[in-house]
Amino acid sequence: MEENKIREMIRIAIEQLKYSYTPYSGFKVGAALLAGNGELYTGCNIENAAYTPTNCAERTAFFKAVSEGVRDFRAICVVGGQDGILTEYAAPCGVCRQVMMEFCDPDEFCIILATGEEQYDVFKLKELLPLGFGPDNLG
Ligand code: THU
Repeated sequence: MEENKIREMIRIAIEQLKYSYTPYSGFKVGAALLAGNGELYTGCNIENAAYTPTNCAERTAFFKAVSEGVRDFRAICVVGGQDGILTEYAAPCGVCRQVMMEFCDPDEFCIILATGEEQYDVFKLKELLPLGFGPDNLG
């Protein structure tokens, strides 16, 4: 992926931390999802008093895009940390990896984990979800 695009995605993912709704964990996550049409869809985590309805930042971004008819994706950038302080990579949870598997080619889709514009790594979905089960596995 082009370096400038990665940095832009990191910047936008970090911006989303301010919308993160985390009265229970205080762990803030932001995401920027790049679609095939060049659009960026943003997401933050949204917690809930009943805990289980909590939505991760990655799924917020995916569901915003899919709900607008977009199903072709290139990459997602995810940042996060306690109180929004980025000290370590915030890798996507298993549920979010599975949602990515539904819409993305595991050999192509990139997951950018960052703690800042200068510190990031790029993974393929296949690396983070080996032997994933997706639509191709059904009839
Ligand atoms: N979280 C995300 O937003 N994305 C992930 O992939 C991991 C976890 C959120 C959910 C919850 O609000 C908080 O981080 C602590 O689990």
